[in-house]
Amino acid sequence: MTAPSDAQRPPLPGYGAASMEKIVSLCKRRGFIFQSSEAYGGLNGLWDYGPLGVELKRNLKNYWWRVMVHERDDVVGMDGSILMNRAVWKASGHEDTFTDPMIDCRSCKSRLRADQLLEKNGGRQCPICGSKDLTEPRAFNLMFKTYVGATEDESSITYLRPETAQAIFVQFKNILEVSRKKLPFGIAQIGKAFRNEINPRNFTFRSREFEQMELEYFCRPEQGMELLEYWKEERLKFYENIGIPHEKLHVKTVSDEERAFYSKGTYDIEYDFPFGRQELEGVAYRTDYDLAQHQKASGKSLEYFDEETKQRFIPHVVEPSAGVDRTVLALICEAYAEDEAPDEKGKMETRIVLRFHPRMAPIKCAVFPLLKNKEPLVTKAREIVNLLTPHMYVFYDESAAIGRRYRRQDEIGTPFGVTVDFETLGEKDAALRDTVTLRDRDSMKQERVAIKDLLDILRSQIA
Ligand code: GAP
Repeated sequence: MTAPSDAQRPPLPGYGAASMEKIVSLCKRRGFIFQSSEAYGGLNGLWDYGPLGVELKRNLKNYWWRVMVHERDDVVGMDGSILMNRAVWKASGHEDTFTDPMIDCRSCKSRLRADQLLEKNGGRQCPICGSKDLTEPRAFNLMFKTYVGATEDESSITYLRPETAQAIFVQFKNILEVSRKKLPFGIAQIGKAFRNEINPRNFTFRSREFEQMELEYFCRPEQGMELLEYWKEERLKFYENIGIPHEKLHVKTVSDEERAFYSKGTYDIEYDFPFGRQELEGVAYRTDYDLAQHQKASGKSLEYFDEETKQRFIPHVVEPSAGVDRTVLALICEAYAEDEAPDEKGKMETRIVLRFHPRMAPIKCAVFPLLKNKEPLVTKAREIVNLLTPHMYVFYDESAAIGRRYRRQDEIGTPFGVTVDFETLGEKDAALRDTVTLRDRDSMKQERVAIKDLLDILRSQIA
């Protein structure tokens, strides 16, 4: 018996045409995501983002930074190093407890997470070969170990960070001093994190190298529970603003048993992926655990002095922690659609379209001269590219029939197409000189707009 691969699982209801097989294939074909080290057979759980994937990822990270840092006067940013003193990981508890229980199947030699075993007739079975010949669970630390400097011994050990948060806690005092913020205030960071996951799966969903967008929002102890609710709501709004509909998002209250022992409340924000409902982000009230641990281990004060009450205390923290790669995957799954559109001869054919929110779309606008061998059309189209380029990512395409060019852009989610035709040159009707057709990706409707209005129209849509 073989467990179905992620690509073979049928899509969940509500996904229409989208299946992981189609999504993975589109991502490779159009340059969103490739397997890392593909030429050498790849490396499990590691992925490379191609020309369109990197744009999508940047749009997501930039929007998160805008909403979480620039548009707020109570949050500042930082960018910490990936390697940190090993003492950080001892104090945070990661060295001793950042583990998954792992089981080996003695028959097929698979290494599995204990929670992935099949339960059948009261017994546990390997989900790959069905064998019941399994080892007892063993704790497997998920951090990647490495050595700093020329000697590889106990004294030079450290780890690739498994979360970005710890750099924020360790720099709390420095940032408090330079930013002169008063509680409540936050420190935000986007960066790589690494976990040696036992079973990376579901395309990029569970990877060994991924990016996080984390905010540590420091507050007084009595504000913690209220701010947990506040940040849960803010984060739900964020997902809707990038094109993930409310009905596909779910808030799971993490139970007392599942929650970290130091957390007084945690929500998981989940999304209905084609492979099931899974976590996009955790919003956790972590109390003063992290700062208190680092204060104890480093012997340096991480206390906050309240000018009004003249009290000193360790601030509490609420943490919304989101995954960049998981959100990119959710954006692609959500955007994928198939509908019917006429080909060049008017015959209806299946159209693959990525209906990204214009704010997230990798390319915002494609510019086409109707014909590539008519110099005035090409010149005008190039002028429009130059007009738009300082404000958005634009793609110029003069090859193939116009219908084919539209279809190529639909498949990568470009929300707008501008075509320069003979009307633009004023050859048919002088009143239409310096106007273009503006095509909407989703409705495929075209309207005539003046070139001088184009920039404002597009900017209002992609902001
Ligand atoms: N600082 C808190 C923290 O790291 P987490 O729930 O372990 O909490 C936060 O991780 C987010 O990071 C997750 O909600 C998920 O989006 C992302 N993430 C965690 N492990 C991941 C993995 N192996 N692959 C991709 N994303 C991951």
